[in-house]
Amino acid sequence: MKSFRILLLASFTGLALLLNAQPAATLRPSFTLQTAHFSLAFQVGADGRLYQRAIGADDKAKSQRADEAYPQAGDGYFWEPALQAVHADGNTSTTLQYVSLIRTNEADGRELTRVLLRDPAYPFEVTLCFRTDRERDVIEQWTEIQHHESGAVTLERMASTSLLLPPHNLYLRHFSGDWAKEMNPTTELLTPGTKVLDSKTGVRAHQFGNPNFILSLDGEPQENSGRVLAGSLAWSGSFQCAFDHFGDHVRALCGVNPFASAYHLAPGETFTTPVMIWTWSANGLGDMSRKLHAWARDHGLRAGHEPRTVLLNNWEATFFNFDFNRIAGLFAPAKEIGTEIFLLDDGWFGNKYPRTNDNAGLGDWQPNRARLPDGLAPLAAQAIKRGVKFGIWIEPEMVNPKSELFEQHPDWAIVQPQRKVELQRNQLVLDLTRPAVQEFEWSIITNTLGVPGMSYVKWDCNRYLTQPGSSYLAPDRQSHLWIDYVNALYAMMERTAKTYPNIELMLCSGGGGRADYGALKYFHEFWPSDNTDPTVRVAMQWDYSYFFPVMALASHVTHWGHRPMHFACCVAMSARFGMDLDLVKLSPEDKAICAGAISAYKKIRDVTQLGDLFRLENPHQGIRGALNFVSTDRNRAAIFAFQLKDGEGKPVMPQGLDPAKKYSVHELNPAPGRAALTREAGTFTGEELMRDGLKPSCGKALEACVVELTATTN
Ligand code: DGJ
Repeated sequence: MKSFRILLLASFTGLALLLNAQPAATLRPSFTLQTAHFSLAFQVGADGRLYQRAIGADDKAKSQRADEAYPQAGDGYFWEPALQAVHADGNTSTTLQYVSLIRTNEADGRELTRVLLRDPAYPFEVTLCFRTDRERDVIEQWTEIQHHESGAVTLERMASTSLLLPPHNLYLRHFSGDWAKEMNPTTELLTPGTKVLDSKTGVRAHQFGNPNFILSLDGEPQENSGRVLAGSLAWSGSFQCAFDHFGDHVRALCGVNPFASAYHLAPGETFTTPVMIWTWSANGLGDMSRKLHAWARDHGLRAGHEPRTVLLNNWEATFFNFDFNRIAGLFAPAKEIGTEIFLLDDGWFGNKYPRTNDNAGLGDWQPNRARLPDGLAPLAAQAIKRGVKFGIWIEPEMVNPKSELFEQHPDWAIVQPQRKVELQRNQLVLDLTRPAVQEFEWSIITNTLGVPGMSYVKWDCNRYLTQPGSSYLAPDRQSHLWIDYVNALYAMMERTAKTYPNIELMLCSGGGGRADYGALKYFHEFWPSDNTDPTVRVAMQWDYSYFFPVMALASHVTHWGHRPMHFACCVAMSARFGMDLDLVKLSPEDKAICAGAISAYKKIRDVTQLGDLFRLENPHQGIRGALNFVSTDRNRAAIFAFQLKDGEGKPVMPQGLDPAKKYSVHELNPAPGRAALTREAGTFTGEELMRDGLKPSCGKALEACVVELTATTN
């Protein structure tokens, strides 16, 4: 049951009267957003504006313009504003003064605080919204903008968040990339000026830039010490995160990218910004991630408390080259080695223009009659008969010009008139702002997900916007495309999740282009990258794990990089385990390694996916990467060591164990022919294990070791 509590609700006129009548200092409202170890303090100034105290600062908010909580352009504030609006009469300035605050208790220790600000000269209001998760030190923040002016107000900047931090020794870790090279970290000292992270790709946030970052208040971020703040913008479109370093402060502004995105807000409409997710820790990156993961399992992704099954995908195994028999032939070996779901990837549809490569067929979602003469249902039935569930790949937002759909509806594609059409992967994006396109895409979803026996869907998106023209939106509303597209996409994703609650969904975007909590809340996992080389994945999964629990990271064993099968399996089983292998062609030795890894994964998946993650050895820095997971009752743990270069390493030092408990030590699925773990079958207290460590059985490059710790009763 929700309970409502109104702490402070004063009309601005009333407040102004009070401020005039009595000494301002005693009357100016102040409030704090409090979680277990974090607070954000605000204060109304004598001028009625809302000010905030910099995070981690001891002093009070100084009530000077640089300290404003949500600064507005055009009326005295001359640094990067959070809000820039052009009013109906052409006035380019906004002034926001505090009106009221409402707090609402929600379930699970969460509290919603809504702070209403109003322009004294215009019927224009901004509500700053904060949802605190007390236990997890997470604050979700967003902004709602509304007005009742005589015509549309143009929003030119509308940040989700605008937090102040002290400028001394403040480091930013951010992530850049490209296709198959996602999530490369850069850590740098923030210096005077404005550092901007952004993307202008429209239908995905990530690929080159990334809407996830870490701010570290005590120098370079450390795993187990120092004050750190993770920022994650829940938005799957163009974003901007600007770190404006000026004077006494750094202001972190994040939200939709203002680039070419002016939004004309009609009277009475509400513009709601994407949600910014902040997670605080005074004990370093490890604690920060564990809290964010716990939040994500409850609120950031679907079925966050259900360990994931083992999936077999055919993409790397067959690419476009398959038919019914080739796919059906994979089901028996899939079952034999222990996989639990089969995913049929791209290439199953299109008749006039068969989808036998990426040139044609996208948009024509009828099963290809030569490959699947009776459609998808018999294939799904065959999989189920052989003991594996069945899933399918779709890319509903896209069209190949070589398709029946494009022949019928050329105006449905996003292109610029008068310009040579620019294709990426031979395809265009369908204009989701157009209601007919929304209906069409919904029909793809219902036709495909409605096939009897469907259990899993991979939703792909293989291009971004480079020519953002909509023939549906009016000429003076073209700039709405960036925002309306993403909101229409979310509406479709939400409808899908609600209509098919039992179908598992994977978010994919030509590799890892959609790794954000905006879309992930409708999905169970995302595809981090097409690059499945395990030596690359060790580091990439480490970096994604700052923000996402490993259950959300699909990790498939492939032949990418031609690494030893045992190494590839160990890396993949440290996240959501899957395989992209032609099991018919796999050697008996490799098959046995895969089967052993799957069986090992099934023993520990509740620990790796639902337990706490401790990042032990950073693969960017040393000769290996190492992690361990601990179950919440601390009775079980799993340690992973991935050797990237030759060299007998020091023992791996696990963390998070119960010092008083005794644990038995057992290597899971050891590599064939390697000497046993020196402590195999021994029993040690958590204190001993955390003090002395465990020497893993790997010492040469491309060897790996997975150790299970189980608390004993005596
Ligand atoms: C891009 C994805 O990242 C791949 O895994 C695969 O599904 C292809 N698209 C299919 O076209």
